[in-house]
Amino acid sequence: MNSVIPIIPIAATNPIDIQSLVQPDRVHKRVYTDPAIFELEMDRVFGQAWLYVGHESQVPRPGDYFTTRLGREPVVMVRHTDGQVHVMFNRCPHKGAKLVPDGSGSAGKFLRCLYHGWTFKCDGSLLSVPLRSGYECTALDLKDPQYGVRKVARVATHRGFVFASLSAEGPELQEFLGGVATSLDNFCDRAPEGEVEVAGGVQRVIQRNNWKIFFENLHDTIHAVATHESSWRAAKEEHEAMPAGTPKPFEVVIVDGNGEPLEFWEKLELKGYDHGHGFMEGIFVPPTDPVSLAYVASLEAAKGPERTDEILRVNRHNTIVYPSCSPHTSFQQIRVIRPLSVDRTLVEIFSFRLKGAPEATFQRTLKYTNIVNSPSSNVMPDDLEAYNRVQEGLGSDGGDWVSMHRAAGRDQPLPGGRASNGNSEMPSRNMFAAWAGYMGVDTGTRTNEHAGSAE
Ligand code: FES
Ligand SMILES: [Fe+2]
Repeated sequence: MNSVIPIIPIAATNPIDIQSLVQPDRVHKRVYTDPAIFELEMDRVFGQAWLYVGHESQVPRPGDYFTTRLGREPVVMVRHTDGQVHVMFNRCPHKGAKLVPDGSGSAGKFLRCLYHGWTFKCDGSLLSVPLRSGYECTALDLKDPQYGVRKVARVATHRGFVFASLSAEGPELQEFLGGVATSLDNFCDRAPEGEVEVAGGVQRVIQRNNWKIFFENLHDTIHAVATHESSWRAAKEEHEAMPAGTPKPFEVVIVDGNGEPLEFWEKLELKGYDHGHGFMEGIFVPPTDPVSLAYVASLEAAKGPERTDEILRVNRHNTIVYPSCSPHTSFQQIRVIRPLSVDRTLVEIFSFRLKGAPEATFQRTLKYTNIVNSPSSNVMPDDLEAYNRVQEGLGSDGGDWVSMHRAAGRDQPLPGGRASNGNSEMPSRNMFAAWAGYMGVDTGTRTNEHAGSAE
């Protein structure tokens, strides 16, 4: 007798009532730990938002390519012979092989699949197949665009930064970026030639935590003094051991800032914008070491003192472009966030060269990346430990809710967003307001309202 095993949709046996998991100032631990919610996020958050792909300078010549992932989709950014940059699925239309290997390189004039040699122009259109005559007797029409490489639904750039959306619908890129477009502008304006380029390779870290924990930490000011005590204390002691009057070396400035007291952070301003974005005011006094002074001189020579002053006044620490990247405008770095699973997150760190600035400026950028954010730095491993402890703690039966209550109800409205003091948990509430929107939940979440209660 044939037995039929019924297939029961997951939702029927394990319904997810997302509405009950997100409140204006607290969220349920399941949003960080439930693999089914992660799968929904891939469809609803990463399947809708504009996601950072890369920078045009990563594919400078026709045929150059760079691969990455948008949500769970492997994609490739390629420059066509006409100079246009395309973003398409890294999948051959024949039998599905990845068209180019992961990483970056040059395909030459054409993209040729490794498996059976189907060949495509660099805009993804099919150029030739072996044994073409074998298709003449079939209904299959190789001229049909479906035999080209499928493009992602939408691609747009802002000052050379390439974004893509897997959805044909939704706001245009400029509307999506809103107030954080100014961070990308300032990133480029800081270059004497007004342009930047990726340089120096990439550093990768696989974190043992949900992707949202990383984003929340980007504007979590109060963790610094506790989490990073070993490095900021060592940096302070190092400086104190130098002869009296020695100016703080750059290496000390970028590490001992984490030791600032909570009153310091409170005075900084945080901005949160629609779609979950935001930025944080700069935490470093503009450095006055010889490298930094030579850089300012190069900017003044190109733009004049008044414009230079205007540009450098935009002094920001981490910017959040939710849910895919975090540019650091002052030290020319972008961290790209790629969720791998509910408790694994890939973070890729790209450094940028300011075109027209002295080479030592770029060396300073590398120094910042190496000392503060690289896997072997003295600072980032502290954060990784904290993120993993959060992930493991949330997996326990020790409680159900995560608090985002601090300074709730005190946000100030801004056009397209809201502002708060530096120790507020407004950024987390703001990101979850966007998250709820993507996930199709109407929580009435507004970051300037106070509702719900702590456990
Ligand atoms: S899978 Fe690409 S040519 Fe066959
Ligand atoms: Fe940190």
